[in-house]
Amino acid sequence: DRGEYRHFMQKEIFEQPVAISRTLHERLPLDGAPLALGREVLDLLQAARAIRILACGTSYHAGLTAAYWFEAMAGLPCRVEVASEFRYRTTQPLPGELVIAISQSGETADTLAAVHDARERGFAGILAICNVDESSLVRSADASLLTHAGPEIGVASTKAFTTQLVALALLVLALAERQGPRPELRQALRSLPAQVEQILAADQAIEALSALFADKQHALFLGRGIHYPIALEGALKLKEISYIHAEGYPAGELKHGPLALVNEEMPVIAVAPNDALLEKLRSNLEEVRARGGQLIVFGEEGAVDGDGIRVHSMPPCHAFISPMLYIVPLQLLSYHVAVLKGTDVDRPRNLAKSVTVE
Ligand code: M6R
Repeated sequence: DRGEYRHFMQKEIFEQPVAISRTLHERLPLDGAPLALGREVLDLLQAARAIRILACGTSYHAGLTAAYWFEAMAGLPCRVEVASEFRYRTTQPLPGELVIAISQSGETADTLAAVHDARERGFAGILAICNVDESSLVRSADASLLTHAGPEIGVASTKAFTTQLVALALLVLALAERQGPRPELRQALRSLPAQVEQILAADQAIEALSALFADKQHALFLGRGIHYPIALEGALKLKEISYIHAEGYPAGELKHGPLALVNEEMPVIAVAPNDALLEKLRSNLEEVRARGGQLIVFGEEGAVDGDGIRVHSMPPCHAFISPMLYIVPLQLLSYHVAVLKGTDVDRPRNLAKSVTVE
């Protein structure tokens, strides 16, 4: 039931605060007690010496994002692979390398086959992050962490993505807390539902931006560091439902090729949170501006300014949760562009919700 919403995708975007609260519920004790992720999950994590993430599509982007956390906050080497590529490669596990397989449906054929292969190749264990209990993935894993996003009907994945990130953040937090309590990280996660709510409240301003895309054929999404995968996910959302060709790039790669595409016809969307890379990003964006590209920047007040740049201002936030926040306006933007273009938002052409064949 879509309730008051025009499309399932829209409903699912707006459900994110509730979905995230469910993912966190009971796993993040208020009294500072250890995270309640289940004995089996914790045992797999404690034994891990390295991590290999396997997934497809949006779930792959969640994995790419989490790799930054695993490396920086848990000190573990982490590689992320598209499941359909992993299964046809001859890659060897590192000693103690744990597989984390991520899937909304738990029925994606390539992800299931990659997990099967990983087992045969002697990886240390399989941990599933999944939205569907009793799914094939959950049944074939050694342990799983359910995302509890609730049913996702729209083909374009939204609340599944943010709740996957929250589940991954809980895993990273459990590892980081081996060195001692991290109350500030716990607090940041607890504040997430309210912060997402605040971003959703700016929906009308984002809808107004969608007009810029109505007659465009292409768009470029830029990010740096952990927000590079967020740029990739923003581009995937736009191409899936509005059929505009969109690419995500790490902003530092601009001069290595994509800058050649930039002219007055090219909208460039930048994910620009107030982090250590903002200064670098600013100079990348200056190059876009100098070539007449239409810049749309998501960042804090005053993050980037200059003639002709449209800044959608985002509330200040803790760095740990910023990927989960910065994807939300990109989801809303794609949604409004698709509505404006009159596409079948919930069932875009040529796509299936769950890809159960290779
Ligand atoms: O159910 P899964 O998470 O395994 O699905 C993976 C992809 O097929 C899925 O994320 C797809 O890319 C979505 N349509 C993206 O919005």
